[in-house]
Amino acid sequence: MSDRTPIIAGNWKMHRDHLEAIQLVQKLAYHLDGADYEGQEVVVCPPFISLRSLQTLIQSDKLAIALGAQNCHAEDEGAFTGEIAAPMLARLDVRYVIAGHSERRALFGETDEVVNAKVKAIQSHGMRPILCVGETLEEREAGRAVEVVTEQLRGSLAGVRVADPESLVVAYEPVWAIGTGRTALPEDAQELCGAVRTELASIYDADTAAGIRVQYGGSVKPGNVRELMALPDVDGALVGGASLSSEDFALIVAHRR
Ligand code: 13P
Repeated sequence: MSDRTPIIAGNWKMHRDHLEAIQLVQKLAYHLDGADYEGQEVVVCPPFISLRSLQTLIQSDKLAIALGAQNCHAEDEGAFTGEIAAPMLARLDVRYVIAGHSERRALFGETDEVVNAKVKAIQSHGMRPILCVGETLEEREAGRAVEVVTEQLRGSLAGVRVADPESLVVAYEPVWAIGTGRTALPEDAQELCGAVRTELASIYDADTAAGIRVQYGGSVKPGNVRELMALPDVDGALVGGASLSSEDFALIVAHRR
């Protein structure tokens, strides 16, 4: 048994306006009881425009839910029309920021170098990166899954220091499992999350690697979360579609009941 604190995060992607966001978190809180939060972290990552209202709701209702953002720019400020800077997120009590999600890599051209700069920006403002890695179906079928993930980790973590292992989260999200309803087999999820930890041990050291949380992401649902969370190297879940239903996300958070 590891003493890593499990972390369940909902990535809402580009869904829900700010009114729907408030409703979703209120309903989530309604479905959960105190014991569901205990001993694990619960994070919601709404679109930027809802961070302020959710910060207020979480504070006023004293909810044990942390705020996450889905992205940020690597620079602290500047002429970057349409972008959001890490210090702006930190000011809203954002605790986690997703970096290098496969949708950003594939649709917005984010390279490991860009992701690396974002990870550093997130850390430098006291927030915690959720660094996403994962292979495409083509890469998996070519037997290159471990190699691809290893390369993404090396590139995205170049020069990134980790003083407190809980301050870095890595999400292994096989691209072919995202939004497809096709979850990785438990043995494949374990193999790759184990490979992530092995690589983290080589980048840092065994103790640091043993303390870093590794999430699995890709079609996590109430029906499969238990077997995924039981895997030795899976410390959490990064949930897309199912995090948009307060009932489903609550069931995922409450998977230990
Ligand atoms: P789904 O849970 O919808 O497959 O999305 C996973 C994901 O991309 C979370 O970041």
